[in-house]
Amino acid sequence: MSDVKKPVKITETVLRDAHQSLIATRMTTEQMLPIIDKMDKVGYHSVECWGGATFDSCLRFLKEDPWERLRKLRDGFKNTKLQMLFRGQNILGYSPYSDDVVEYFVQKSIANGIDIIRIFDCLNDIRNLEAAVKAANKEKGHAQVALSYTLGEAYTMDYWKNIAKNIEEMGADSICIKDMAGLLVPNAATELVQALKAGTKLPIQLHTHYTSGVASMTYMKAVEAGCDIIDTAMSPLAMGTSQPATEVMAKAFEGTDYDPGFDQNLLAEIADYFRPLREEWLESGLLSPKVMGVNIKTLLYQVPGGMLSNMVSQLKEMKAEDKYNEVLEEIPRVRKDFGEIPLVTPSSQIVGTQAVLNVVMGERYKTLTKESKDLLVGKYGKTTLPVNEEIQKKALDSLGMKEPITYRPADDLEPSLERFEKEMAQYKQQDEDVLSYALFPQVATEFFKYRDAQKTGVDTTLADSASKTYPV
Ligand code: CO
Repeated sequence: MSDVKKPVKITETVLRDAHQSLIATRMTTEQMLPIIDKMDKVGYHSVECWGGATFDSCLRFLKEDPWERLRKLRDGFKNTKLQMLFRGQNILGYSPYSDDVVEYFVQKSIANGIDIIRIFDCLNDIRNLEAAVKAANKEKGHAQVALSYTLGEAYTMDYWKNIAKNIEEMGADSICIKDMAGLLVPNAATELVQALKAGTKLPIQLHTHYTSGVASMTYMKAVEAGCDIIDTAMSPLAMGTSQPATEVMAKAFEGTDYDPGFDQNLLAEIADYFRPLREEWLESGLLSPKVMGVNIKTLLYQVPGGMLSNMVSQLKEMKAEDKYNEVLEEIPRVRKDFGEIPLVTPSSQIVGTQAVLNVVMGERYKTLTKESKDLLVGKYGKTTLPVNEEIQKKALDSLGMKEPITYRPADDLEPSLERFEKEMAQYKQQDEDVLSYALFPQVATEFFKYRDAQKTGVDTTLADSASKTYPV
């Protein structure tokens, strides 16, 4: 062992990705608050607790104001950095927004307590990251850019090194390898981390999921190769489609140069808090044993866990559950036709839905969804490889376009904040409300109405029904 200690830093995901991956993002603020005092004493590099699907879930299912949640977490975490996940130009939604909305969202996230913004683009088109990164720089937040990790002929070490270099030049403060499907195997992690370390001076963080069963070994190899920070979740909400367990990773590095120096007794107390909640979620069916084991199909089909469960529910709705395996095989073909793009929100939904349609309709691309058309004509950005020209032609024709877009898609979007302000003025109680509305107009309006009714004490039925039904 060398003399140079290099403790691995740890980002705790139990308040965001862990419950998003295992229980459809249904952890409430009330369930979080009692334990954050203890979590604040662990010495985490950061706690990921906001963004991703939590924003949508707060408004839609939990009838909570996501901004209020953030402020409460900020109040409780006095010594720990708070981190959020941000979908580049798509913010926390599913399609691109104008720059003024992106900038205002970043500004308000930081003003309400976020320290680190992890920004990614589902196509790894770095033009889609620029507005958010610049806004985070301006607000003195930490801008972390995440590479959406995937496999395929286009994804060589040079591809990753190039992107990393561009991200550094763009003004990012750190780089994350975002392995949403758990595809990064241990030896590949060594190679990738070494390549990125050689290509950039920025700190490297690794985010993976346990889905395929290799994640903790991948972390071990990555850290030994120089990875600075890893993402883990407290054991009651770890593994399966979530992250490796915090206690286990901390223990695995104990006594080595990478020892994070965590107090295992304190971690055990925190786990004791979450364990009864886990039992409740298991009992209610919100936590399904299906997401807890090893799913080796994720390596075979390179499909993220969340995408599989979406696909199952789509097939159920169409009464076509027997087509599961056909769709599973169709996904890589659609992905190829769509330029071999990474599969992560929202590209995962676009490819998944199109694959379902292709199989259920009995003819490939008989119907193209609006999102598929937009993707094929460049409205989400540049795909990794060129898309299938024949299908692209079909999309162009149906949209009345002559040529695909080759410039940054958001350059087409007029500033829209003012319009949103006007549309929701009657519900406004805080500046941030316009952003909730901009991202989810219908859902936010319903929430605003519910909030108003709560104030006058009229109607509480929404909250009751939301807590009992768990649509995925
Ligand atoms: Co994740």
